[in-house]
Amino acid sequence: MKTLSSTGSLDESRWSIPSAEVTSVFQWKYDGGRSRLLSLYEKGKTKQWDANTRLDWSLQVNPENPLGFPDFYVVLHGSDIWERMDAKERGEARFHLDAWRFSQFLHGEQGALVCASRVVQTVPDLDAKFYAATQVFDEARHVEVFSRYLREKLGLIYPINPSLKTLLEQALGDSRWDLTYLAMQVLIEGLALAAFGLIRDFATEPLGRSLTAYVMQDEARHVAFGRLALKDLYPQLTEQERDEREQFAVEACYLMRDRFLGQEVFEELGLDVAACIEHMRTSELMREYQKMLFSRIVPTLKDIGLWGPRLRGAFADMGVLEFAELDTEAQGRADEDVAHELEQLRETRDTYVKGVTSELEATH
Ligand SMILES: [Fe+2]
Ligand SMILES: [Fe+2]
Repeated sequence: MKTLSSTGSLDESRWSIPSAEVTSVFQWKYDGGRSRLLSLYEKGKTKQWDANTRLDWSLQVNPENPLGFPDFYVVLHGSDIWERMDAKERGEARFHLDAWRFSQFLHGEQGALVCASRVVQTVPDLDAKFYAATQVFDEARHVEVFSRYLREKLGLIYPINPSLKTLLEQALGDSRWDLTYLAMQVLIEGLALAAFGLIRDFATEPLGRSLTAYVMQDEARHVAFGRLALKDLYPQLTEQERDEREQFAVEACYLMRDRFLGQEVFEELGLDVAACIEHMRTSELMREYQKMLFSRIVPTLKDIGLWGPRLRGAFADMGVLEFAELDTEAQGRADEDVAHELEQLRETRDTYVKGVTSELEATH
C-alpha cells in the first residue's frame, strides 16, 4: 500500500486544525422538533447499510482503467500530451487520475465525518443534533468504502489536494455551525455529489459505480438536511451576515474550479504540468465537465436563500447560472432511486448465482 506525499515520500499521518471559541450547545427541551427534520432522522436510521455485504468486493478492477471510463472522459484526452503517450503510459495515467480522484473523495469524506460531529456539538436544536448523529455514521461508512477501495483495488492513496485542505481548514476553523455546514455540506459535498454522479452515470466498472451510487443515496439525505437547517437560519441573519456567507461561497467556488485539477498527478507522472492545466482550461469537454461540477451547488445555494448579486454575478461569470433552475429535491429523489435499482439488480444476480450453484452441487 503506497501513500504519496507531495514530495513522493511517506507523508505524516496526522493533521490537526486548532479552533478557538467552539461553543457546545445543550438543549433541555426534549419534546417537539420540526417534523421534516425528525422524519429525515427516521429515514437516516432505517437506511443504514453495511459496506461489507452491500458491495461485491470480489469484483476485479482493471488497473489500466479502474473505473472503466471511455477515453473520451480522461482529462488529458485530445491534448498533444495524450497523443504522444503509448498504451502503457495511457493506462498509467488513467490509474493515477482515478486514484487521485478517489483519494480526494476519501479525504473529503473524512472531512465530512469530522464536520458532521462538530455540527452535533454546536447546532442548537435537538432535532438537528439527532439527524446530524445519523450523518456521522453515514460519513464513517463513506470513509470506510473509499479507503477500502483504494487500499484493496488500487494500492495507492494520494494526499489531500491543498485547496480542499484550505476549505476544510476554513470549515472547521470557524466557530459558527452554519459555516461548517455551508463549507462542508453545501460546497465540498455538493461538488463531490456532482463528481460521484458522473462516475455513477458514465463509468462502466460495476464496483466503482455501485459504490458511488450508494454513497449518493446517503448524501441525498445530507443535502436535504443542510437545506432544511440553513433555510430556517439564513432569513434570520442580517444582510451583512448573509453577504459574508456569500463571499465565502464565491471564493470557495473559484478556488475549487481553478485549483482542484489533479496537478499532483501530472507532477507524479513527470508530465508538463503547465501544459496539462492549459489543456484543461481550454478543452471544450473539460470546460463542460467543470461546469457540471456545480450542478448541485448552484440550486442548493439559491434554495437556502444565499442568492444575492455577488453570488449570481460569480455564477454568471462561471457560466453555471442555468443550474439555478434545477430542482434539488428531484435530484435527491433520483439519487435514491438509482441506488435502489442497482441494489435490486445485485439481488437478482445473487439469487441467480445461488440457484445455479446449488443446481451444480446437486448434479455432482
Ligand atoms: Fe459522505
Ligand atoms: Fe455527506
